[in-house]
Amino acid sequence: MTAVDGEALRNRLRKNLRALSRWARREGVRCYRVYDADMPEFAVALDLYETNRGRALHLQEYAPPSSVEPARAEARLDAAVTVAGELLEVPPERVFVKVRARQRGAAQYGRQREEQGELYEVQEGPCRLLVNFTDYLDTGLFLDHRLARARLGALALGKRVLNLFAYTASASVHAGLQGARATTSVDLSRRYCEWATENLALNQLDPRRHAVVRADVLEFLRHGAPESFDLAFVDPPTFSNSKSTRADFEVQRDHVALLRGALRLLTPGATLLFSCNKRRFELDEAALRAGRAGLEIADITRETIPRDFARNQRVHRCWTLRLPGPPA
Ligand SMILES: C[S@@+](CC[C@H](N)C(=O)[O-])C[C@H]1O[C@@H](n2cnc3c(N)ncnc32)[C@H](O)[C@@H]1O
Repeated sequence: MTAVDGEALRNRLRKNLRALSRWARREGVRCYRVYDADMPEFAVALDLYETNRGRALHLQEYAPPSSVEPARAEARLDAAVTVAGELLEVPPERVFVKVRARQRGAAQYGRQREEQGELYEVQEGPCRLLVNFTDYLDTGLFLDHRLARARLGALALGKRVLNLFAYTASASVHAGLQGARATTSVDLSRRYCEWATENLALNQLDPRRHAVVRADVLEFLRHGAPESFDLAFVDPPTFSNSKSTRADFEVQRDHVALLRGALRLLTPGATLLFSCNKRRFELDEAALRAGRAGLEIADITRETIPRDFARNQRVHRCWTLRLPGPPA
């Protein structure tokens, strides 16, 4: 291995941990980001998960700049894995590494392949949620949306909730456990729909009231929803072009049509929470207001970026869109 001095990283991690672990304990947060490329030479994101089988560490490498030679990048990654595992006291079998760009690096972590398909359980607020550290780039739980999910939950009592691009339906679980009358989670992926169903079942949410619909959201909005909803969560990908969709979707170009379609399914006074991860995304408020008189739009990003993502203010942006009328 090319010699890399892990000492500076160790010091930084120690400092982050000191502050964040105290905050996490106080807030009851069990899964959080402990490091996010704070030092440019160690361009990784490190997420700590307290699971039902002990602590796990999920390390995602950002693509190293092309000026860094591959051997050097690999040595830094190895150093990061070692230092983080030691400092956070996570045994090597629960340190999961995702190499973003340099695919060949993945071959080093053979143990990941052996463990494929394994699900771990974590707790977020009142919810039990399943995560998978090995099979996808993401774990099934986007940690930066923790507060957005909690917010949806806090609004959900007695509501019929629509969750579009639901992924593993973690937001629907929050809504369900906080007293939503019903939830509908829509996602195109068969695997994520199965996972969503498992998450709902794990929390004893009755499938007759908590539906998972495998569909293209754009198709669903065009034809699919016989009922209306009082609250919605819409968290689209930046881009989507699945084989099963007829048209591709690009969030900047298509968000107005998407949101108009979603608002059409909502009752007067309903709230829609819209989140977007695209960098430099701009919400076309004028177009949205022009299409719907009395629509109130508020940027709530400052309230939805959690403390562990505060150094990366751009991780997502979040808005509420509220239809006129008495609270739904
Ligand atoms: C929740 S979005 C991702 C947003 C996330 N915040 C991020 O960081 O990428 C991803 C989900 O959207 C789903 N998805 C993508 N295109 C879709 C479409 N056209 N209709 C329904 N679901 C779609 C994917 O299957 C996945 O579960």
